[in-house]
Amino acid sequence: MVGEPLEPVSTARRLPRWSEVREVVRFRRPRLGRTARRLEHALTIRDLRTAARRTTPRAVFDYVDGAAEEEITAARNVAAYRRVTFLPDALRSVADPDPGVELLGSRIAMPLVFAPTGYTRMMHHHGEAAVAAVAQHVGVPYALSTVGSTSIEDVRAAAPGADLWFQLFFTARPDVNEDLVSRAEAAGYSTILLTVDTVVSGMRLRDVVNGLTIPPTLTARTVLDMSRFPAWWFNELTTGGLAFASLTGVPGNPTPGEVASMMFDPGLDITALDWLRRRWRGKLLVKGVTTPASAGEVVEHGADGVVVSNHGGRQLDRSAATLDVLPAIRAAVGPEATVLVDGGVLHGQDVVAARALGADAVMIGRAYLYGLMAGGRDGVLRAYDILAAEYQRSMQLLGVRRSEELSARHVAVPPHGAGGCPHVPS
Ligand SMILES: Cc1cc2nc3c(=O)[nH]c(=O)nc-3n(C[C@H](O)[C@H](O)[C@H](O)COP(=O)(O)O)c2cc1C
Repeated sequence: MVGEPLEPVSTARRLPRWSEVREVVRFRRPRLGRTARRLEHALTIRDLRTAARRTTPRAVFDYVDGAAEEEITAARNVAAYRRVTFLPDALRSVADPDPGVELLGSRIAMPLVFAPTGYTRMMHHHGEAAVAAVAQHVGVPYALSTVGSTSIEDVRAAAPGADLWFQLFFTARPDVNEDLVSRAEAAGYSTILLTVDTVVSGMRLRDVVNGLTIPPTLTARTVLDMSRFPAWWFNELTTGGLAFASLTGVPGNPTPGEVASMMFDPGLDITALDWLRRRWRGKLLVKGVTTPASAGEVVEHGADGVVVSNHGGRQLDRSAATLDVLPAIRAAVGPEATVLVDGGVLHGQDVVAARALGADAVMIGRAYLYGLMAGGRDGVLRAYDILAAEYQRSMQLLGVRRSEELSARHVAVPPHGAGGCPHVPS
């Protein structure tokens, strides 16, 4: 009856049975390797970043993590993705999802490309070869930097079946440009990325403070810091010196210092693209475009498309977050041109947002470098697996079975202004 006091609860008890405990407690097999344990505990790219900070000398970590001037653009890149709201379709079957996409004539595992990063063997001695091997293993392209620490030919040897792209810094030396392009051609690279946002070097203050230059000339403080990471030090010292591997044999045998300054050509203009379009029969993308006008111009000059990129905020600070300018750039170049976007992609949901807002694919730089620093090749694979799982799960929760179905109606983006780009004339 209502209001009557309840009887005290009486619970019958017995001794616990081992067979029942075993069913509910999941005992993990102990893992021996420290690296494997570290990677297993990293559930997100941000966890990999934390692990990388612990395993890598400060100057090296900062070289990857840092950006230009006040690092405003680097922060904007990340913030732009976090302003996106998803709008899922209800009651759509998402069984048997397919995250793959067509990119420049090939089917790839998901809309993601490993971006070119110079001097990758400094981050971890596995370097570029490891990233290329992972790219081949999972089925997405890898772009090798002109200033990579593994040569065009050695990366191909490490990943004979990979879709390899070559990132070109167009120099003022025609013989050097010709040498690089013909070697990429001979080694079966499918695509050239012409980087155009490096006419002069960006000012990365963390590197100045740490005394880190490329090629490295280290201060006593940096050396002291590096000595706190004996494993990193030992691996670097026992796996061959760091060099701009694709440039050591170029005509005239320039010194590393000469090579570094050759990479920044203040005289670079549209005639470089015209030359390259005539010379290179493969696919050609221009990397480092952030306005619809520039994107339209390079496509008119024969590029197959663009990488909407501000170099991860490492060159011109206060330039726009790349996600903010993506829709206007897609509109300017039309549906046929290839549009990639990079900068600030740290989560599979960022890839969803980029796809929905008009990108064919994203490129990731720091996301895989954190993995590389935290655990070499297996860390790069871990970074990819994290992003791939986040991407597919989010796609399904949005009611989308195939990457191609993602569209602008799946996302809401607040008007520009809240830290983003105020107005982009098209
Ligand atoms: C350590 C480092 C080195 C880089 N080196 C190059 C390079 O040699 N050539 C190039 O075109 N871009 C280079 N980039 C830029 C990347 O290709 C890419 O545009 C950028 O990392 C994307 O931003 P995210 O790091 O936030 O993903 C580098 C980026 C980093 C972090």
